[in-house]
Amino acid sequence: MGVLAPVGNRLRRILFNRNVFIGLVIVYGLMFIFLSPSSPWAYEVRFFGQNNLQTSAASSSRRRMTNHPPLPALKPRVPCYGPRGKLLSESPDDELEEVNLNIPFPKPWTGSYEALNLTQTWSTAQGRYGAYGFGETANSYNRSRVDWDKINWQDLQTQCLHRNAHRFPLAALTTNNSSLLQMPPRFSYPNESKIHNLAPQWHEFGATRRTALVVRTWRGYAYKDEDMHYIRSLIVEASLRTGGEYQVILLVDMHNHPVDILASKENYLEALRVDAGVPKEFLGMAVLWDSQLLKSWYPDIKEHRTIFQVYQPTQLFALHYPEFDHYWQLELDMRITSDAGAFLDQLSEFARMEPRKQSLERAMFQHMQPRIGDYESFVSAVDAANNGSTHAWGPLRLPDIDPIGPEPPTADPRDDNFKWGVGEDADVIVTSYCTNASVAYHWQYRNWIHGFQTGKKTPMIFCPPAIMRSSRNALLVIHEAQHVQALRIPSEATPPSFALWHGLKLSFPQHPVFYWAKNGAEDEFQDAWWKGGPKNSSTGAGPDVTDHPRGWGLSYWWQSVWSRQLYDAWEGRQLAEDVGFPWILAKPEEADGKVYMPSNLMMHPIKHHT
Ligand SMILES: *[C@@H]1O[C@H](CO)[C@@H](O)[C@H](O)[C@H]1NC(C)=O
Ligand SMILES: *[C@@H]1O[C@H](CO)[C@@H](O)[C@H](O)[C@H]1NC(C)=O
Ligand SMILES: *[C@@H]1O[C@H](CO)[C@@H](O)[C@H](O)[C@H]1NC(C)=O
Ligand SMILES: *[C@@H]1O[C@H](CO)[C@@H](O)[C@H](O)[C@H]1NC(C)=O
Ligand SMILES: *[C@@H]1O[C@H](CO)[C@@H](O)[C@H](O)[C@H]1NC(C)=O
Ligand SMILES: *[C@@H]1O[C@H](CO)[C@@H](O)[C@H](O)[C@H]1NC(C)=O
Ligand SMILES: *[C@@H]1O[C@H](CO)[C@@H](O)[C@H](O)[C@H]1NC(C)=O
Ligand SMILES: *[C@@H]1O[C@H](CO)[C@@H](O)[C@H](O)[C@H]1NC(C)=O
Repeated sequence: MGVLAPVGNRLRRILFNRNVFIGLVIVYGLMFIFLSPSSPWAYEVRFFGQNNLQTSAASSSRRRMTNHPPLPALKPRVPCYGPRGKLLSESPDDELEEVNLNIPFPKPWTGSYEALNLTQTWSTAQGRYGAYGFGETANSYNRSRVDWDKINWQDLQTQCLHRNAHRFPLAALTTNNSSLLQMPPRFSYPNESKIHNLAPQWHEFGATRRTALVVRTWRGYAYKDEDMHYIRSLIVEASLRTGGEYQVILLVDMHNHPVDILASKENYLEALRVDAGVPKEFLGMAVLWDSQLLKSWYPDIKEHRTIFQVYQPTQLFALHYPEFDHYWQLELDMRITSDAGAFLDQLSEFARMEPRKQSLERAMFQHMQPRIGDYESFVSAVDAANNGSTHAWGPLRLPDIDPIGPEPPTADPRDDNFKWGVGEDADVIVTSYCTNASVAYHWQYRNWIHGFQTGKKTPMIFCPPAIMRSSRNALLVIHEAQHVQALRIPSEATPPSFALWHGLKLSFPQHPVFYWAKNGAEDEFQDAWWKGGPKNSSTGAGPDVTDHPRGWGLSYWWQSVWSRQLYDAWEGRQLAEDVGFPWILAKPEEADGKVYMPSNLMMHPIKHHT
């Protein structure tokens, strides 16, 4: 290698490490011939589709993935510019202030700092969000102030990607433009689409090593200061501090907007600038959609409402913006209490290093340290409950699904010593535990399943809330199932169930979640969720009892109310009289009233005060 110039090195790396890309060089030249001015993105689909040497078998049976070696680590991150015009590596004003307090760190109710390798530090709301404008109107604000209206976050993201371009495969860079806004909108109706294959297959795309953070929002959303701090923190920490490994997108539901936004570029831009309500600094990273778009792509799925089909816009986003390997679907009513990029990296890393064997079963129990000890003990207990076997070894076969996932390396899962899948990125990462829909009698959507030959007997798991990461591969098979076959299941069941059916890797990294009571008062509540744990499960796939008390007091759950209280107390807002000061926050005597929050907490939901 040493004798070759840097450019040669790069080519050699591509050619030798990833044999898929033989022919790439020639094609990279041809790309400019294919590239038509009206479709700046269509070529990449064609490019990888037509020139992939492994596509030779033009049979009707679908191509399965093979078990491949783990992807090599990316080169070191190159620092990027932040909103203060300085490199983030040289700008203390852009930094979070995290401290160690000389007090015991609170013990999570579920999940584990240790298992996910999450740091345990503390910060005030000012220390965490000050860089993004929290407290900037106060005289005591001692960071340089930013004129946020003058910031173009999309430019900062693009600039960062360019500075780091050498770290990513070409597939990540083929859409090289400074702004999604400046491009014609990529979304289009299928009858007018420039995408060569309306339901492309996983193998038509090369790895890009990038992850989209798709933040759902809608027309009429009232962006409050806290939303602004949150969105800016995601961009700086996940996108800019990682050297472009993530990119933040606002996916805007234009609901009830009377204009056909896709009828012309003018309509679209007018809607974006005037009607979408997106704050100026984020305009360049907004992508608009409406229900007409969903109906046009999924006409036989009679339901497009978010409550049933929250993934449809993200599926279409993956179809039109395939320059990402993974897509996190995030909400505006969530927060991450310390560096968001570091947190998401650890979820991803945990999922990558998790073996496939029993990853489903481990996702169906909660890891409660007070009940079972460390993660290894949890893993052993799940293994014992399954007698060393698993409910999902390779694709879970359904007549309607032609799976894409790889064959297991051994016929019997008991012959695999928790090796399969280690080092492989997860296709679906869920953020809370999963339940078998067949036995979840209390789940209100349990019979909402259509289009399958197996009808309501179709095996399905659901893992609320619908905050998950899905790979492009997973989203494209879901897209195809909806577009071509009109198969549909409820939102929170969609990515995990499709992962099961296709034999794609599923993972639940059990991040720390806290509960509002402590000192023994939480015991009864914990028992009611624990249900005896893996040991008391007759199936090995989750507790036999699927019902549980309401999760109001959890820091992360779909129906939590404590998350808002936690955030309010941290920000120094007055809590209602009957609301106690959250026990996990610290108010050290010597810190004159400052309130500290534990790091690496993902909180949800945090609804606006009305
Ligand atoms: C834990 O994460 C840190 C980065 O925060 C990393 O340097 C370290 O290697 C990780 N440790 C393990 C065991 O993965
Ligand atoms: C700014 O104020 C915070 C406390 O509000 C303090 O921790 C920090 O050290 C100060 N920074 C500078 C540069 O003075
Ligand atoms: C992308 O554009 C930037 C300038 O805007 C340029 O420096 C860079 O080389 C371009 N990358 C590719 C792959 O075309
Ligand atoms: C980037 O956008 C500009 C319009 O702003 C367009 O002229 C140019 O062709 C685009 N470049 C690429 C590589 O898509
Ligand atoms: C394509 O479909 C959309 C909506 O489904 C419709 O509004 C539009 O007129 C159609 N375009 C053509 C060229 O048929
Ligand atoms: C594991 O083996 C025990 C004892 O043979 C049996 O009772 C139990 O049902 C088995 N569990 C599973 C998940 O197969
Ligand atoms: C064990 O599961 C049974 C249902 O199979 C349930 O009735 C019982 O309460 C559970 N035990 C504990 C300790 O939760
Ligand atoms: C879900 O429950 C059904 C009915 O009891 C059972 O047949 C199936 O194996 C279960 N699936 C999983 C993944 O546990």
